[in-house]
Amino acid sequence: MPRPLSITLACALPLACASPAATTGGGSEAAGSETGTPTTGAGASTTGTPTTGAPTTGTSTTGTSTTGKSTDGLRPIPADPQRDGDPDEGYRALVNNGYVSCGIPWTAYSQVFTDAPEALRLPGRDGKNATLPYDKTAFVGASGVELVSANCLQCHAGEIDGKLFVGLGNASGDFTVKVGGSAALADLLLDDPAEKAELQRFVARLNAVEPYTQTLTLGANPADNIAAVLFSHRDPDTMEWFDEPLLDLPPVVVTPVDVPPWWHMKKKHAMFYVGAGRGDHARTMMAASTLCTDDIDEARAIDEYFPDIRAYILTIEAPAYPFAIDAELAAAGAEVFAATCSGCHGTYGDSDTYPNLLVDLDVIGTDAALSTDASQFAGRYVDWFNDGFYGEVSRLEPQVGYVAPPLDGIWATAPYLHNGSVPTVAALLDSPSRPTYWTRSHESTDYDPANLGWQHQALDHGQAGEPSADVRKKIYDTTQPGYGNGGHTFGDALSASDRAAVIEYLKTL
Ligand code: HEC
Ligand code: HEC
Repeated sequence: MPRPLSITLACALPLACASPAATTGGGSEAAGSETGTPTTGAGASTTGTPTTGAPTTGTSTTGTSTTGKSTDGLRPIPADPQRDGDPDEGYRALVNNGYVSCGIPWTAYSQVFTDAPEALRLPGRDGKNATLPYDKTAFVGASGVELVSANCLQCHAGEIDGKLFVGLGNASGDFTVKVGGSAALADLLLDDPAEKAELQRFVARLNAVEPYTQTLTLGANPADNIAAVLFSHRDPDTMEWFDEPLLDLPPVVVTPVDVPPWWHMKKKHAMFYVGAGRGDHARTMMAASTLCTDDIDEARAIDEYFPDIRAYILTIEAPAYPFAIDAELAAAGAEVFAATCSGCHGTYGDSDTYPNLLVDLDVIGTDAALSTDASQFAGRYVDWFNDGFYGEVSRLEPQVGYVAPPLDGIWATAPYLHNGSVPTVAALLDSPSRPTYWTRSHESTDYDPANLGWQHQALDHGQAGEPSADVRKKIYDTTQPGYGNGGHTFGDALSASDRAAVIEYLKTL
């Protein structure tokens, strides 16, 4: 098979090139899926009031509602009621169902790809899905044609040290290239008119979305812009697709986002870095993957099983740190953490509490772009969402600021901050040491246990002047709009030994 076609098909399912495939390691692990059924609904999270470690102003207990004004820049996010679901059914649906609603016809796919290696397969998959890689799903579309598309795990599964974790954000997804035009080549492999029509529909959709979803760097994710483009072209009530957008499209320059891990959701009252995902989370979760769900009845059918998918997501536990931990140093770090960090990030271990705080931009000081009217959080899209099918039970309520996330499994979720601009926790906690330009191999084995994050090299230049596209797209340039690495300076005042102790403690979360 000609090489361009197989690359193209791998990339076009539906939007990203596959991350560097796992070739080694002990196979995949649905992190935490063996744990018990979580309690669903608002009761699932502990809403401890922060009492220690409040930053600067020290009055973190007094925040008002997230719509009101806060006195200290910390606003608690209240819980909203959620629909119950069955986690086992949810896992089954997540890895078998065709919620993307379009894709590449199986006839073409199967001429290019052989069965996935064992390490890339997942348990609990039916029929052809049993032999597909974890991030692809085969399903029969509304037209009766069997299709293959990417699923949620394209972005929401990742690898460390050769081991795949379901629920870990994919920190190496490639959204730097456009693939729609070349995906059309798969037409050469098809004879059946119904199959050709399905491929055309898929390629047309990629072409509509892609101009607005190209990022500069591997791992930077455009999901919020994808949602904005899909909203622009759809009637908010019927989900009907219009080739001519009904709303102004988002800016072509994508605001980059690092994919958050799913194991946060059991604690979080609001989805997304800016705390925008309010009301019913299950319905909001389906928005990013309904690339071709253009029919309200089909959307309602998908929505029926999304509470199950959410229930599954709530069972996922952060993976345990796999390397050695210095227990004594970690114990010292626990005290520093309690005094300096808990006020925003909560407490861990026996007295697990999480305050669900939205931190105002002037307190957190990280890159402002995502929290100021960017991508799907711009006013016209918020109205589209809230006034139509999604708004029946969910709502978008973006804020100027960022949620202080839970830190469970923080060792595994590098790079850090909402835009993935900081390669290690050590650099996050010592802001002058953060590299302005940096690069990494994107090999999952290049983990850095000492600094907690990815091994990387600081550079003295950005992408300009680098002739090789492969080298260029691995360069993270924090001077680009949306890619800034400033703010979150709460670790700067720590002594080197206290900082080392906190890092050791974070390994235990
Ligand atoms: C193209 C990549 C991509 C795909 C596909 C995708 N997501 Fe996401 N998802 C993201 C990104 C990026 C974010 C963070 C967005 C933000 O906070 O602004 C996110 C956020 C979330 C969150 C909120 C997490 C948190 O801590 O706030 C949930 C839950 C979620 N996605 C579930 C899903 C489900 C379920 C699917 C499949 C139906 C899916 N996603 C498909 C990229 C993706
Ligand atoms: C004033 C509240 C506040 C304090 C105090 C605070 N943080 Fe944060 N932290 C945040 C917010 C908000 C974010 C998210 C910022 C963003 O993504 O732009 C964050 C992000 C992080 C992240 C990155 C999370 C990720 O997944 O990318 C880590 C790690 C972290 N904090 C650790 C700490 C540690 C350790 C301390 C104590 C030394 C601390 N924080 C103190 C509010 C706080």
